[in-house]
Amino acid sequence: MQPSADSLQIGNYIGALLQWRAMQDEHDAIFCVVDLHALTVPQDPAELRGQIRRTAAQYIAAGIDPSRSTLFVQSHVPAHAQLAWVLNTITGFGEASRMTQFKDKAARQGTDAASLGLFAYPVLMAADILLYDTAVVPVGDDQRQHIELTRDLASRFNARFGATFVEPSAMIQTDTARIYDLQNPTAKMSKSAASDAGVVWLLDDPKVTAKKIRSAVTDTGREVRFDREDKPGVSNLLSILSAFTETPIPALETEYAGRGYGDLKKDVADAVVSVFEPIRARTLELLDDPAELDRILAAAADRASEIAEVTLATVYDRIGL
Ligand code: ADP
Ligand code: NA
Repeated sequence: MQPSADSLQIGNYIGALLQWRAMQDEHDAIFCVVDLHALTVPQDPAELRGQIRRTAAQYIAAGIDPSRSTLFVQSHVPAHAQLAWVLNTITGFGEASRMTQFKDKAARQGTDAASLGLFAYPVLMAADILLYDTAVVPVGDDQRQHIELTRDLASRFNARFGATFVEPSAMIQTDTARIYDLQNPTAKMSKSAASDAGVVWLLDDPKVTAKKIRSAVTDTGREVRFDREDKPGVSNLLSILSAFTETPIPALETEYAGRGYGDLKKDVADAVVSVFEPIRARTLELLDDPAELDRILAAAADRASEIAEVTLATVYDRIGL
């Protein structure tokens, strides 16, 4: 996850963190705060430094367990940048130009403002994945093309220089895990939304969170029913409630039969606040003890380096360095 804001938003929590937390049980999981990726758009150094720590603290507070998983900061493991350079040299200019996320972001920044770093972003992401012999990458649908590129680079390198990399597969999150802006429920909720009126932040004051949810846009009808086309606002609230209460959406529809949107909003607000309040408290506690947070991140970087250095040494050897 990019350290691109002071707080995660509820979409990151449902679409990413909840699923990652569950994966810790069955997988040897590696999580990375991708600070080098954050540099691909302009950053204020002091703000970035704080956001890296806050992002890591939120992962831990939300249940990524540093004793079971490896949770580290990308720039603490130099092999990421080193392998990315090697992969750059086997990536076609045209191939990189076809990445739709680059085209979108470059269009937004203006072609002259967009950096080489932004262009090479997917190659650094490939390095993040390939360093760890990764089998499965849990991502949103928007990352499918980047995982395809990662697979292509792995098989190209293997064909040219001998079997080195595992070709990873994408594990695409389900559609109901996608959360939309509360004020504009057809747009994905995002840390970088133009207005934060419809964004629920993990670290918001609980009163602010409850108020935002109670002010969510719904439609003029009264029936609580999951229908993305005709009832995007209500469907979004149902997705949130379903994730927070671990209740399937059809069961929620039954529960709210004959009841209004007011009840639904109140229950969503209560559910979110009761889950986020302890996470927020734990995050602030971790941020209050920088030495302990540093110790956790340094230990994880050591563990990650042990794996990454072996891969990088093999790569250097294969290519004649
Ligand atoms: P943001 O748009 O908030 O900056 P990122 O692009 O950094 O989010 O994505 C971080 C993770 O959170 C990814 O795994 C992404 O799929 C997930 N994610 C982001 N926004 C949402 C959302 N609105 N609904 C579900 N998952 C989301
Ligand atoms: Na983002």
